Amino acid sequence: MPKLIVTDRYGTESAIDVDDGLTVMEAIRDNGFDELLALCGGCCSCATCHIHVDPAFKDKLPAMSEDEDDLLESSDHRTENSRLSCQIPFGDELDGLKVTIAPED
Ligand code: FES
Repeated sequence: MPKLIVTDRYGTESAIDVDDGLTVMEAIRDNGFDELLALCGGCCSCATCHIHVDPAFKDKLPAMSEDEDDLLESSDHRTENSRLSCQIPFGDELDGLKVTIAPED
């Protein structure tokens, strides 16, 4: 099972196993990281699933949609490694992906 490495807002790193067919947001939320609110449930309309992604994996991620880009623009914590985790389907090709939950806006 592919692993996702999550760093929470306190800087604690955890490795979680991710079932097939989940997005990065669902994997984080389902593993008890309450700080990732994901209020819209993955509809790309809230930006509370904001993460920073390890740049080493940037090329393996799906392209960012205009909606995702617009939503990230509303965050004070946007960096060049920002993504909305609900917009990233997780799978074997992302095994070992490291993400950090972005600070709350
Ligand atoms: S969960 Fe709302 S934008 Fe990702």
